[in-house]
Amino acid sequence: MKTEILPLTDPAAEQRAETLLRDGQLVALPTETVYGLAGDSGSSKAVAGIFEAKARPRFNPLICHVDSMKMAREIAVFDALAEKLATAFWPGPLTLVLPLRAKTAVHPLATAGLDTVAVRMPHGVVARLAAKLTRPIVAPSANLSGRVTGTSAEAVARGLSGRIPLILDGGATPVGLESTIVRPAGDRLVLLRAGGIARDVLAEASGLAIEDPAAGAAIAAPGSLASHYAPTGRVRLDVRSIEPGEFVIAFGPDRPQGLENAAAIVNLSPAGDLAEAASNLFAALSAFDSADVEAIAVAPIPSTGLGEAINDRLRRAAAPR
Ligand code: TXA
Ligand code: MG
Repeated sequence: MKTEILPLTDPAAEQRAETLLRDGQLVALPTETVYGLAGDSGSSKAVAGIFEAKARPRFNPLICHVDSMKMAREIAVFDALAEKLATAFWPGPLTLVLPLRAKTAVHPLATAGLDTVAVRMPHGVVARLAAKLTRPIVAPSANLSGRVTGTSAEAVARGLSGRIPLILDGGATPVGLESTIVRPAGDRLVLLRAGGIARDVLAEASGLAIEDPAAGAAIAAPGSLASHYAPTGRVRLDVRSIEPGEFVIAFGPDRPQGLENAAAIVNLSPAGDLAEAASNLFAALSAFDSADVEAIAVAPIPSTGLGEAINDRLRRAAAPR
């Protein structure tokens, strides 16, 4: 299959995407977080196609992207806490895992047969396309399963070219990390995946202490497997001293020891700004994801604010495969 790449600024691009989606085909497109691989949530062809194109395990459910609270309420049950979070953060990088309604347009394969559904209201083109289809759009991150997440059309094309008909190019995605996933229930709020909205921001807005999933419970977000976001080379974390020939991901103004022997250096944020570092993280991992990069060394990154999500992604990138 030939993959077409159209800039979002091309007036025909969105129409082309809509036509493909209505036919159960897949379109990669930008959201504020990362690029998503979008399909019609009601089409078994589209949903099965997403698992196929990404080589994604079928037990790993997809996020439903909605254009409005009306569409969200058609698929999920909102309690007072869920309403409050949606009001505070939507549209934006927050995904809510909520009870799934009995009869919805969403195909059961998309929710992996669970009785909950992950819902998010994004900015921009995905929301507009959901409005046109009058149904949620399912979209996992637009990368091969287990590999580095795409935050640019070029990165998406490297993984999915030849597997999908269209990529909409909207430039680099502003947040750069996937959405934060939480499960609100009554007066408790469980963080299933750290992401574009930091824990302290959620705590402030909800007035609650944010809980972690119970240890030993079934994996909370089924996709949160240990090895993920993996470039080809080995990844070493919290590195203060560079080995000769390593490819270095630096952070902040401090110069790690031995930097003069590095093969290449990317600084996620020379000023030490975590939001800037988040937006550059996957591009850096992607730039170093090639057969001739054997070893990647990552400088220490504080785990405050967005640093929690950055370090989560880095730990998975470094995990044994
Ligand atoms: O920012 C994002 O969230 C991006 C953009 C494209 O929206 N999407 C994304 O999707 O990161 P994906 O498929 O890469 O990650 C979705 C995560 C997976 O870990 C999946 O297991 C989890 O959401 N998930 C989906 N439905 C769930 C549910 N009912 N309960 C718990 N976790 C769920
Ligand atoms: Mg993903």
